[in-house]
Amino acid sequence: MSKEALYIDGLTVSFGAFRAINNLSMIVKFGEIRGIIGPNGAGKTTLLDVLTGKTRPRSGRVLLDGALDLLALSEAEITLSGVGRKFQKPSIFEALTVAENLGLALRSRQRSIWGEMVYTPDEGDRAHIQDVLGMIGMKGRGDLSAGKLSHGQKQWLEIGMLLIQRPKVLLLDEPVAGMTDEETERTVTLIRALRSPERAILVIEHDMAFVQEVADLVSVLHEGRMLLEGPMERVRADPAVIEVYLGR
Ligand SMILES: Nc1ncnc2c1ncn2[C@@H]1O[C@H](COP(=O)(O)OP(=O)(O)O)[C@@H](O)[C@H]1O
Ligand SMILES: [Mg+2]
Repeated sequence: MSKEALYIDGLTVSFGAFRAINNLSMIVKFGEIRGIIGPNGAGKTTLLDVLTGKTRPRSGRVLLDGALDLLALSEAEITLSGVGRKFQKPSIFEALTVAENLGLALRSRQRSIWGEMVYTPDEGDRAHIQDVLGMIGMKGRGDLSAGKLSHGQKQWLEIGMLLIQRPKVLLLDEPVAGMTDEETERTVTLIRALRSPERAILVIEHDMAFVQEVADLVSVLHEGRMLLEGPMERVRADPAVIEVYLGR
């Protein structure tokens, strides 16, 4: 049995009297790619906000890697503990090259550990940057200017900047929004290739064909609660899921 990357128990998030997340429990194991779907306002982004320390829940427990209490940590500490989050808008540096962006992502992590120490990538770092370039389908393109990349390539570089930090949990919020069909197909291949026993991946996405192709299991959120969890085929055929989400 594989280990739990994320253990979420009885999570409740309140904004005033409104419960954006209501007694939510879920477990995501290492090696897994979990799809998270649900109508607008279901609490999907709020869940990622809690997992990254941006929003504090009213109650509940969240453990990383079976032991680490994420709710006791700051946003920066959570990042350093191995939770990486990709936002919809890429935050790459357009004036730098692809490889420089990856180096910077590596350095920003090291700086937070070692203070303002001057950083030069050593051999290990350079090899790691090359590995990540391969993982994001940009082998040999490290010298390209990031500003010249297509929308899809910018998204992949952003994923690379998370991978360079070797996250245990990778959170992707609508990774194929705005992509062409071809870019979406390539992103399916890319994300599937990121499956690793050292990593769990959570993907929020409205593109159901995409979710079906990348996710091992799907969690359906509705009004802050877990409506259903299971393989996509089962989720797609479920009357309650069809009623609140798929049948719109
Ligand atoms: N900071 C906030 N203050 C008040 N309400 C919020 C806040 N963030 C989110 N919400 C509300 O919580 C609910 C869930 O939002 P969200 O997690 O963004 O949903 P989803 O990503 O599933 O569309 C929505 O009704 C939203 O308006
Ligand atoms: Mg959202």
